[in-house]
Amino acid sequence: MSLLKEKHSLFLPLILNVLYFLASFSVQSAQPPFSCDSPQNYNFCNTKLSIEQRVGDLISKLTLDEKISQLGDIAPAIPRLGVPAYKWWSESLHGVSNVGRGIYLNSTIRSATSFPQVILSAASFNPGLWYRIGQAIGTEARAVYNAGQAEGLTFWSPNINVFRDPRWGRGQETPGEDPATASKYAVSYVRGLQGDSFNKTGAGAGAGGPSGLMVSACCKHFTAYDLDKWNKIERYTFDAKVTAQDLEDTYQPPFKSCVQEGHASGIMCSYNRVNGVPTCADYNLLSKTARSSWGFYGYIVSDCDAVSIIYDAQGYAKTPEDAVAYVLKAGMDVNCGTYVQRYAGSAIQQKKITEGDINRALQNLFSIRMRLGLFNGNPKNLVYGNIAPKEVCTQDHQNLALEAAREGIVLLKNSNNLLPLSKSKVASLGVIGPNANNVTKILGNYAGPPCKHITPLQVLQSYVKGTKYVPGCDSVACPSSSTSQAVQLASSVDYVIMFMGLDETQEKEELDRENLVLPGMQESLITSVAKAAKKPIILVLVCGGPVDVTFAKLDSKIGAIVWAGYPGEAGGSAIAEVIFGEHNPGGRLPVTWYPQEFTKVPMTDMRMRADPATGYPGRTYRFYTGTPVFKFGYGLSYSKFSYEFLSVAAEGSVYLNKSVNVQAVSKTSTSYDTVKIGSKACKNLKFSAVVGVKNHGPMAGRHPVLLFKRSSSVSQGRPKEQLVRFKSVYLDAGKGANVEFVLNPCKHLSRTEVDGSKVLDEGSHFLVVGEKEYEVKIMA
Ligand SMILES: *[C@@H]1O[C@H](CO)[C@@H](O)[C@H](O)[C@H]1NC(C)=O
Ligand SMILES: *[C@@H]1O[C@H](CO)[C@@H](O)[C@H](O)[C@H]1NC(C)=O
Ligand SMILES: *[C@@H]1O[C@H](CO)[C@@H](O)[C@H](O)[C@H]1NC(C)=O
Ligand SMILES: *[C@@H]1O[C@H](CO)[C@@H](O)[C@H](O)[C@H]1NC(C)=O
Repeated sequence: MSLLKEKHSLFLPLILNVLYFLASFSVQSAQPPFSCDSPQNYNFCNTKLSIEQRVGDLISKLTLDEKISQLGDIAPAIPRLGVPAYKWWSESLHGVSNVGRGIYLNSTIRSATSFPQVILSAASFNPGLWYRIGQAIGTEARAVYNAGQAEGLTFWSPNINVFRDPRWGRGQETPGEDPATASKYAVSYVRGLQGDSFNKTGAGAGAGGPSGLMVSACCKHFTAYDLDKWNKIERYTFDAKVTAQDLEDTYQPPFKSCVQEGHASGIMCSYNRVNGVPTCADYNLLSKTARSSWGFYGYIVSDCDAVSIIYDAQGYAKTPEDAVAYVLKAGMDVNCGTYVQRYAGSAIQQKKITEGDINRALQNLFSIRMRLGLFNGNPKNLVYGNIAPKEVCTQDHQNLALEAAREGIVLLKNSNNLLPLSKSKVASLGVIGPNANNVTKILGNYAGPPCKHITPLQVLQSYVKGTKYVPGCDSVACPSSSTSQAVQLASSVDYVIMFMGLDETQEKEELDRENLVLPGMQESLITSVAKAAKKPIILVLVCGGPVDVTFAKLDSKIGAIVWAGYPGEAGGSAIAEVIFGEHNPGGRLPVTWYPQEFTKVPMTDMRMRADPATGYPGRTYRFYTGTPVFKFGYGLSYSKFSYEFLSVAAEGSVYLNKSVNVQAVSKTSTSYDTVKIGSKACKNLKFSAVVGVKNHGPMAGRHPVLLFKRSSSVSQGRPKEQLVRFKSVYLDAGKGANVEFVLNPCKHLSRTEVDGSKVLDEGSHFLVVGEKEYEVKIMA
């Protein structure tokens, strides 16, 4: 989303149009504050009726013009029915944000808890934590609404596109490159955000009651969207060529889970095309896949101006009316922007759409507003109506932000146990780097104003009195460095901590990177400082996307490397706690850290699988054939952990049930179509794998246990390995735990064929945790 906030010339004329257009809708201020305040004699106000009936009644009372007016993200009031204006666009990626149009943090509530950027929270591999973050954000969002500072409760988060290419400027917003992790993140965050009220049949559904929505989440960007602006190629015109196999086992799983298990009430279709078709105009994607096959029952919004580009930038539609007809018939409901509001009338006149097409969209839109409890009079009477301003920035939420930052931080290198430092042994500390002393830089994009402003430098100054600071580079781009100043500081102190990496000048929406190495003079500054320092230095990398820091990995004068993502408002404290051993790091990389040579691969190549014939190396830990700088799932601890498989299945064999007549997909094959096996029989095949994990000390700590599977071959596009399950456990030093993973062979051991179908191979499969493997045989 970038309309208005950003500057692209493509849309400038449009913004003027927006203003003109909105003025033409006689928005009145003399309206009751809430729908159905009084009188209560409309059927759409009758909470005893079903949501379908209530929405149907409301739609039946609207004129065609009123209907059309509701099809943009700024939906004007309908004063004669007491329906106030509604703004669909709000953001809450890692905290309630004032990016978007629906929320104002400008009076009673001026800030909100700023959790770590998603890529760092993902590194905790802790779904319970993700759920609690979602819950805290949803609560704060409701509080802002209740305080009268919001005109909407629809939040366009989470961003769950798979982080396919390390250069992507928005990779930081996502839970990383693994589809299973992204799926789990989506489900946890959405359930938390929506108030766990995903029960569509439950009592009070739609009334903002126990089963209504606390706020509404939105799975974006549907689908195969992960290129913003690279090498002059822009997301608005990019046509992602995606194979059926990659679509099925990489790009779609997070969305499927977000809908089916998260019960998300929103989906956003993306800017890009997929195999020629703009996603917002794709009936197969929006209606057949999401609604029919996955059972989605929320609203579908276009990314901002994603309808206009179908005509303007892509030329896919011949006229604006055709663009409007494509999206409404495909199943999109509301346009971020004004394009559909402007052209739906002429589209009807030209018989390209019918009023029925508009009614279909309105049914979804007003259902959401009713599920949010916005047609029940004063929301004070609802379950979520009493969440007060004091529930924003609570100590609990701020502690949770700190916990998330701690749990996410990844220790990448720790030669000779340089870390943790002991406070009593550090008399003087030198802090160097452009990311050490600026709160904005540690928040990440889509952040709102945080509850608290404290930089990593300020925290370190509270740890060590004799802490001195020089920036080293004027900016993160670091076109020139003040090396001599930095070297002088480094040679005069006991320890040096450098805060380097990226910021929004290097990676953000509409800005992908060209390189994977650190910008400008950063590398030479780091090397010079390390050389001059009395002891090996500590390098803290503040960045969302991965950087190639091979030089630092190999330099013995760089003793420790810490990846801190964009750690949010409590990030400075979390980093200090890790460095000084008050927290034992347990985060694991949610993305592959590729070498710079990966940039030879065009970012536009969507293929996940390697192609040895052309030297294409493949993408992510599942398929990349090169040697990463740091691999997916990598992360050190101050303790040593060990694993063992304690028990698996019935002595490692799982028998398919011949009496349900399972047949191999072909005569020459020993693979079985999971659809033909059937969900009931698949359930019967479930088995558990129990992994013993032990903390050998010396410190207590949280430890994510990642269970992978691999096949005996990588032919036919099988991944080298695939994360299937994970759990985060807290273990005191010297203590162990048994972690049980329940596996459904059809789901966790199956693979995707070239045509996108899922099959289960007979024979050997290997469960992998750490260095340990366990063979499981599927027997017919
Ligand atoms: C907050 O911002 C909104 C939108 O710009 C505006 O309508 C409102 O008057 C502002 N409130 C205050 C107290 O400034
Ligand atoms: C949904 O609500 C209904 C009615 O209250 C209840 O019977 C059902 O168990 C609930 N389902 C879930 C998944 O909570
Ligand atoms: C902090 O960083 C932001 C974003 O890069 C920048 O706009 C701002 O000027 C910086 N503040 C200071 C005090 O350097
Ligand atoms: C195999 O399937 C049949 C028919 O559904 C069922 O009656 C039987 O219990 C199953 N056997 C096993 C071992 O699961």
